[in-house]
Amino acid sequence: MKIEQLYTGCLAEMAYYIEDSGEAAIIDPLRETDPYIKMAKADGAKIKYIFLTHFHADFVAGHIDLARKTGATIVYGPNAKTEFDAYIAKDGEEFRIGNATIRVLHTPGHTMESTTYLLIDPEGKERAIFTGDTLFIGDVGRPDLAVKSGEITKEDLAGYLYESLRNKIMPLPDDIIVYPAHGAGSACGKNMSEQTWDTLGNQKKTNYALDPNLTKEEFIAKVIDGLLPPPKYFAINARMNRTVNTSIDEILERGTTPLSAETFRELSQRDDVLVIDTRSKSNYASKGTVPGAWWIGIEGNFAPWVGALVGDVQQKIIFITDDESRVQEIVTRFARVGFENILGYLAGGIENWIKHGYPVDKIGNISAVEFLQLLKEGKCPNPIDVRNPREYESQHIVGVENFPLDFIHENLHQLDPNKTYHIHCNSGYRSLIAASIMRTRGFNDVINVEGGFKALVELGAPTTQYVCPTTVESN
Ligand SMILES: [Fe+2]
Repeated sequence: MKIEQLYTGCLAEMAYYIEDSGEAAIIDPLRETDPYIKMAKADGAKIKYIFLTHFHADFVAGHIDLARKTGATIVYGPNAKTEFDAYIAKDGEEFRIGNATIRVLHTPGHTMESTTYLLIDPEGKERAIFTGDTLFIGDVGRPDLAVKSGEITKEDLAGYLYESLRNKIMPLPDDIIVYPAHGAGSACGKNMSEQTWDTLGNQKKTNYALDPNLTKEEFIAKVIDGLLPPPKYFAINARMNRTVNTSIDEILERGTTPLSAETFRELSQRDDVLVIDTRSKSNYASKGTVPGAWWIGIEGNFAPWVGALVGDVQQKIIFITDDESRVQEIVTRFARVGFENILGYLAGGIENWIKHGYPVDKIGNISAVEFLQLLKEGKCPNPIDVRNPREYESQHIVGVENFPLDFIHENLHQLDPNKTYHIHCNSGYRSLIAASIMRTRGFNDVINVEGGFKALVELGAPTTQYVCPTTVESN
């Protein structure tokens, strides 16, 4: 019997491949299908089941395409209502994969259909649980995504989660392996570990949510404390996961279309088309970009930021890359969070654009050393920190205001386009996104602080007292 964890850093998501005696199952597949089909082929196995732990909100899963291509059965736990053919399993029901068994444990809480899959090996030993967002390493899934006004509150959901953990998960053997759907960096929880799996015994000792002395009331209070509003695309992706969407092959075919500089220019000037520049920070900063482009670098949490900031998954998008061998990967990463209208990329990159003599747009850049010097001298106009409020509250540079990238569209009216802004985040990724968006909204003088908070702290910048240990680090 084989278990493989497929970790995708951009989304901090884990899908799983299980194989025994020529039969395979996939748990929580991402939108692309090839990796799973290739794995099964390499083992000479047939994918028999696609198990979903719940309707994911942070990505669009690929179960329908995968089922279409392999003939596998899509399985959800109790309470799931789908607009496509799926088998809705009962609590306790069992499925065979070769000589191994998957047992369904209905564990509502994160969502009402949330289900944990218990893997029993061919020798009959309980080996692993695939917990989805019910139990993470060091945390549990947020209970506020499946709230229905007038019907179910986040407190209700947190209460169900408490019962699920205590009645279904904690009685399992300590040596069982916990395989969750997400790791550190995912917005599906608050304080996940960098570890991607652990024994249940160890989690019982270290995960606050499994503390046997915790009362239900205390648990509910802890789980809902400090939750930031979910990114805008979460509700859209959750809805997409209940229904049938454009096939990944169709999205890839359209999205990987090379566009001439002339065509790209025409499209970039249309109001209904958004340009996203995915290049490296250094290429973007040194060579400039197409006017109107947002920078969201592919080297970072690309898909979640596209989802959070673009919002509308129907948005038509064209993109710039500095590595044309990654075009397919970039379109896939858009599609994973539901963006289906990718029209193509700038063939020949920004160099081709420049060769045509088309205008380029640049934002200002400043090193952490220079920024700090300006701050010390009181000559740094409007320094802002675009990390999220939890990070800012835990520690920030004295004299710098918080202006989270997460809410930039809602709050941009509070800033003055005629003023100069110096922007930093944790390491220089989010600040560059914020600067690029501000540039397209008429801010003429936005200056990105390279290296961000990390570099500033290393240089000994004066910071507020360290207050709370729950900082969620991101890039
Ligand atoms: Fe989730």
